[in-house]
Amino acid sequence: MLSLSQVFSPSRILYQMFVVFTALAGLGVAHPVAAQAQTAVALTMMPLPAEAKPGTGEFRIDGKLSVKLDGFTEPRLLRARQRFLDTLSRETGIPIIAADGSGAQFVIETKGPSAAVQQLGEDESYSLQVSPEGVHLSAANPLGAMHGLQSFLQLVHVTPNGFAAPALTIHDKPRFPWRGLMIDSGRHFIPLAVIERDLDGMEAVKLNVFHWHLSEDQGFRVESKVFPLLHQKGSDGLYYTQDQIRHVIEYARDRGIRVVPEFDMPAHATAWFAGYPNLASGKGPYSIAREWGVLDAAMDPTRESTYQFLNLFLGEMTGLFPDLYFHIGGDECNGKEWDDSPRIQEFKKAHHLKDNAALQSMFTARVQKLVASHHKVMEGWDEVLQPDTPKDVVIQSWRGRDSLRDAAKRGYKGLLSNGYYIDLNQPAEEHYLVDPLEGIADQLTPEQTASILGGEATMWSEFVTGETVDSRIWPRTAAIAERYWSPASTRDVESMYERMAIIEQQLGAYGIDYRATTERMFERMSGDPDPKALRVLASVVMPPTGYSRGDMQPYTSQTPLNHLVDAIPPESMTARRFDNLVKRIVAGKGSAEDWQQAQDWLALWRDNDALLQPMLLKSSITAELVPVSQSLRQVAEIGLEALKNIQQGARVSTEVQGKQLNAVTAAEKPQAALLLKVATSIELLVKAEARQ
Ligand code: ACM
Repeated sequence: MLSLSQVFSPSRILYQMFVVFTALAGLGVAHPVAAQAQTAVALTMMPLPAEAKPGTGEFRIDGKLSVKLDGFTEPRLLRARQRFLDTLSRETGIPIIAADGSGAQFVIETKGPSAAVQQLGEDESYSLQVSPEGVHLSAANPLGAMHGLQSFLQLVHVTPNGFAAPALTIHDKPRFPWRGLMIDSGRHFIPLAVIERDLDGMEAVKLNVFHWHLSEDQGFRVESKVFPLLHQKGSDGLYYTQDQIRHVIEYARDRGIRVVPEFDMPAHATAWFAGYPNLASGKGPYSIAREWGVLDAAMDPTRESTYQFLNLFLGEMTGLFPDLYFHIGGDECNGKEWDDSPRIQEFKKAHHLKDNAALQSMFTARVQKLVASHHKVMEGWDEVLQPDTPKDVVIQSWRGRDSLRDAAKRGYKGLLSNGYYIDLNQPAEEHYLVDPLEGIADQLTPEQTASILGGEATMWSEFVTGETVDSRIWPRTAAIAERYWSPASTRDVESMYERMAIIEQQLGAYGIDYRATTERMFERMSGDPDPKALRVLASVVMPPTGYSRGDMQPYTSQTPLNHLVDAIPPESMTARRFDNLVKRIVAGKGSAEDWQQAQDWLALWRDNDALLQPMLLKSSITAELVPVSQSLRQVAEIGLEALKNIQQGARVSTEVQGKQLNAVTAAEKPQAALLLKVATSIELLVKAEARQ
């Protein structure tokens, strides 16, 4: 039987199935030997469930699928069912009509309601039983039911008999209760439609917190009726109305997702001061910042008027956002405006505040009281963890796991974002292997460990716009979601990549269509309706990692992000596959297909330059790629030479090899803000050549 997984070499996925079953056996769950014989079915889910057991056969999807809601029901569940059917229709191309008849083959049994405002730690578990005759999904409440529907959607794949889901039984629940994605709408405004589809993607991978970073030096993005100059002077007209915010909150609730707003203070707040300069510590004048980085402007923590303002502001915003948690940022206050103000220096002396950290701590404590007075629990970046920080503050660690551990030891709840900075263009693997508890759980009591609530992927937006943000969030965030949901032992990187590729394809059914965006950007930058050679170059480059892009040229919020570096995904899958096969080749384990594939790719890259060069100078945007394409040709030639030498056992002189290495390492340096990702693999080939 041909399954979708065969396209992705199913071995690892099957291995993963085996791991799941073994875990089940370890739990004393019936582990029929017969089940192992069923492993021809791939568990193409992401996140992988806590427990799964294969059945026999498959459940086929046709246009007559009827889905019945049993037990508790509510309008949200009716909408979830409709959304499920719509997605299934897009996934299969089969028009499916919702029918509620008594003979329904697909039953969703929900025992009771979830909380009116979604709570941290609510039951999200579900059980899913798929057999050739029907599907039974049961859950304590709609949250679990919705997760189960998403699992089913992931199981559907094309077979010689049409679309089907494999027979199996799943008992599933999350490992962590707080599984978030943060989107920075402050630096670049992210349009509502993008937010909506990213919420769809979050639902698909069972993330349950949308942390919305809504104010920054570069923009204040929410309509304020109490202080209208915030959005009127602080947003360039790019803000969400309160109706739109309420819509997003409803949209998220419909998908089992909480919305936690963040209004960053006392720093990262220049845009507030455009309308309300008296909030700031300096003399001004202030306007929306255009440059990136840690800027000097900060709220004045010494004036009562600051707290009066914040009290009214928090009153308005805590009324708008129903979630119990409210994030006040607190990161990266450099204190320069405070140092420059004689009045603030006087205040520090008078109040025995020894440094700016102490001053910020005083500010945070006052803000926390205001937040609490509006019946919310304050959350902040780890800078807010100070000696006297109130115990109910949730600490979001962006600087490392040590602060998370320290917070937990001192009785704080916390979550991890360090390691999940998806703006830094790291491969999925690196994020995937970061575990919120690794290296610290053994230093904590079980109670302290339980106070680590989970984590959040963070999509900072210096280098993304609404056009490009999807390709930075997805599909890597699916891998992070698995880290938060699946058992800690779920760590097989190859299985993750194989399943992530399937999820990536499925996300298209949710309207997350960044591959089409990438293609459109290629066409736009080249002016070519079919830019084949550009695609080839694009397939082997990646954006620079970390914060290095900002050092390559001056960028501001007005710099166009329409270059190749913006169009490509953060991780080149071609480069990854090439690297894997090169590693097999140099280890003496390359198959005949590996050798052939390596040769084919290297020849393609070598020959691409001649096709691409004449195109590049036709566009001011692609002209910068001239040396990148030449470098690709050069390293491909070297790679072919090295491959031939390795194959023939030919010896090269130290001098020749040295020249090859120099050329390859030169090509590893960024050009046009691009990293030629395959150069490091070719370096391995060169180093594997035998020397004379
Ligand atoms: C942060 O990255 N400054 C929270």
